[in-house]
Amino acid sequence: MTAALFRPPMAQEINAISKRTITLTTPYEYVEENGSRFEDELCELLRIPSVSADRAHRDDVGKAADWMVAQFQRLGMDVQRIETSGHPIVYAEWLKAPNAPTALIYGHYDVQPPDPLQAWISPPFEPTRRDGNLYARGATDDKGQMLTHVKSAEAWLKTEGRLPINLKFLIEGEEETGSEHLFQYIANHHEQLRAEVAVISDTGQFAPGQPAITYGLRGICYYELNLRGPARNLHSGSFGGAVVNPANTLARMLTALIDEEGKIQVPGFYEDIEPISAEERRRLASLPFDERAFMKETGSTALGGETGFSTLERRWIRPSYDVNGVWGGYQGEGAKTVLPAEANAKFSFRLVPRQDPEKITAALQAMLESLCPAGIQMKLSGSHGAPGVVVRQESPFMQAAADAIEKGFGRRPVLIREGGSIPVVSVFHEQLGLDTLLLGWGLEDDNTHAPNEKFCLADFHRGIRASTHLWEELRRVVAGEHG
Ligand code: BES
Ligand code: MN
Ligand code: MN
Repeated sequence: MTAALFRPPMAQEINAISKRTITLTTPYEYVEENGSRFEDELCELLRIPSVSADRAHRDDVGKAADWMVAQFQRLGMDVQRIETSGHPIVYAEWLKAPNAPTALIYGHYDVQPPDPLQAWISPPFEPTRRDGNLYARGATDDKGQMLTHVKSAEAWLKTEGRLPINLKFLIEGEEETGSEHLFQYIANHHEQLRAEVAVISDTGQFAPGQPAITYGLRGICYYELNLRGPARNLHSGSFGGAVVNPANTLARMLTALIDEEGKIQVPGFYEDIEPISAEERRRLASLPFDERAFMKETGSTALGGETGFSTLERRWIRPSYDVNGVWGGYQGEGAKTVLPAEANAKFSFRLVPRQDPEKITAALQAMLESLCPAGIQMKLSGSHGAPGVVVRQESPFMQAAADAIEKGFGRRPVLIREGGSIPVVSVFHEQLGLDTLLLGWGLEDDNTHAPNEKFCLADFHRGIRASTHLWEELRRVVAGEHG
């Protein structure tokens, strides 16, 4: 029971003539009245260090799943904690709106590791309010954003006792490590997960005060490359020049993957990409993107990338290649004249729609083998792979979402693409035939995956308001009231 329900009824409510229910509060009033408690509850979830990548946090990930289960239980929803050989999946449903559509809401309660710890102004798992922001690991990615939809469902169920549409929540604990067990679950539960549209809030707005709907995401192929040379580390004076050095080889391989114009050199890499329409390029160019501010925000003195494309195009609609980490050889203070026995790297490609991660991996393997000299043993392993996606922009659900966001944020959203990846989006499309509404409440300077991650509290509340409208707007789609 919430405090709002104990509020003394106003005169007009007492006079309300209704045989079944006397509505004390509307869902829209409820979210305003309960906003500060919603913040406190988000803080509770943020205090649980549910780092999915780190074995030491296994129990914490389970605690975050339990916390989600308790949320749905309090709403009277049917909820399950689904065990997997990885982290649990939380599934909750409310299906009592006949003739109304069903939305499948996805989110993740796991977070990225918080390191480097010394770079945090306040500790990552002690949520702290500063300048209208809430600082904590997971504040925006994705605990804060995901919770907006749980709170809007609460607002409806605690006031009206019903939702305008049917809702299925699918909240996982392995997004940051590739969603392997979620994909197995989806493959075996098509019927349970059947819906008309999917909703995910795990992206961003275009700029502060300018909300957005994201219609495209890049995919990803992530690799680790290990090179082994001599049986042990050697003196580079006695052996250098005669024994093949794995670190030299690694440097050659990593640079061979891209040319000076920023073109990725894996054979066939660009072959399946469809050209971008002039109209789409025009639309991206018309967004009020501030390149100076972007440089300042990233701390870059110059920008660089594929020749012939703008910064937004390079980030959103063109593939990219990044070395994510390199190790091997001497890393300590001063100089050590060593010819290392091994050298290693992690690197990844961001992909755009129609690029096939498996085909690219096969071509990459062949290319690296051809670059690998005798005397070096090479091992290439791939972890998560996901294709890029573009969702339909002309669907009536999109219109409904835009209306809901306009009502929640006070401004019509712009259509954008983003460079990050949410692997489940293509799985929803391929296996469940679902288009996803990517309704992001984050901001570019939220420091996702970085120290001092934050979520703007005003956006948390605007997100809840937009979501409260969303269920009603989505109902109108099937009633034929949307485009
Ligand atoms: N929320 C992000 C995805 C995202 C990032 C969307 C930036 C839009 C802009 C998600 O949690 C994430 O971090 N995804 C990973 C992929 C995953 C396979 C590790 C990513 O993009 O690196
Ligand atoms: Mn996320
Ligand atoms: Mn993330």
